[in-house]
Amino acid sequence: MNKLLPMLIAGMTALTVFLRANASAPTAETGPAGSVSYTAEDVRNLQGFLLEKPAEEELKGKPYDLNGDDRWDVIDLCLMKREVLKDVHAEANADTLVVYFSRTGNTEKIAAYLIELTDADSYVIEAAVPYTDADIRYQNDCRANREQNDKAVRPEIASPLASLDGYDTIFLGYPIWWGEEPRIIDTFLESYDFSEKTVIPFCTSGSSGIAASEQNIADLVPIGNQLAGKRFAASATKDDVSSWYDSLPLEEAAQKLKITVGDTVLTATLADNSSAQAFAALLKQGAVTVDMQDYGSFEKVGALPETLPRNDEQITTEPGDIILYLGSNITIYYDVNTWNFTRLGHIDNITQDELKAILGDGNVRVTFSLTT
Ligand SMILES: Cc1cc2nc3c(=O)[nH]c(=O)nc-3n(C[C@H](O)[C@H](O)[C@H](O)COP(=O)(O)O)c2cc1C
Repeated sequence: MNKLLPMLIAGMTALTVFLRANASAPTAETGPAGSVSYTAEDVRNLQGFLLEKPAEEELKGKPYDLNGDDRWDVIDLCLMKREVLKDVHAEANADTLVVYFSRTGNTEKIAAYLIELTDADSYVIEAAVPYTDADIRYQNDCRANREQNDKAVRPEIASPLASLDGYDTIFLGYPIWWGEEPRIIDTFLESYDFSEKTVIPFCTSGSSGIAASEQNIADLVPIGNQLAGKRFAASATKDDVSSWYDSLPLEEAAQKLKITVGDTVLTATLADNSSAQAFAALLKQGAVTVDMQDYGSFEKVGALPETLPRNDEQITTEPGDIILYLGSNITIYYDVNTWNFTRLGHIDNITQDELKAILGDGNVRVTFSLTT
């Protein structure tokens, strides 16, 4: 996910490093930049600094004169930043979904800021039986109070999403009702599988915190990675939401290989070489099914639809190794062999016996794809 997030960080790092260098000694190179990890906050700080103390030095020859006026100044910084952020907004959050329930608009306002900042898809939870004003008049014996008093209530959702496939990261927004998430949020959570998703709760309230609802969410369904949530006041600004978003420890999940043999689905970690990258690029266009034959009592081998770049080296295989042979054949090793070929990856958490049982004795049809 978030292929461009590392690019943003790298871009901001490069930008920030250069700005640091320029701020103090414009022609000098920076120190050990790799030892520091920078954030959007660094960029903001330096941007503020430059706006107050514009650099006057001659910067001809540097690639930072974006507007071509032979100066390196805040205009270039702004152009550069706009460029970086444009890419991030356009593509970085294709696998992110902002889901929210909001009865009186406060949570919706925060969600709207978040959607604007992330350019993520969004989905509004609406009750099949809408909450009227009387339903939320909590000074009375109202529907919302009765629902909150019964942890088992699951109000039906109007037009539920068919699935959350394709989304790795779910921001989940709601108002606090009697210290907790509205029960319709529980309906939403119990409707899908979050065991491999990152969930980030956020809420609005008069004054109550988010902690009790976070705990409820964690207790209700298995969640792959639940990040600390955030409570906002109804008066929160876009900057407040932006600062919070920038502070989140969102990282790109490692792209994995998915190997389907009959009803069995295995995952494999891709090797760190251009062959594995090319294989992943091929699979991004669609799954590849290979009819594999047993060979040498140590491997299953079959032809790929296209030739991949080779990074051949002398390898002694282990069960679970996925190997590229002569650039155009893919093999799954279930035993040992030593040859000059290219490693594409290795199947995760599997014993030799398990792998042999899955692959069987003779020919086998195997589908390779990528995890979402
Ligand atoms: C039934 C009900 C119960 C509420 N309980 C609390 C509460 O326990 N603590 C609190 O700070 N605010 C509480 N509020 C206020 C809402 O959390 C707050 O107004 C929120 O921003 C509304 O969000 P919305 O406009 O997205 O619906 C409650 C509101 C309602 C309607």
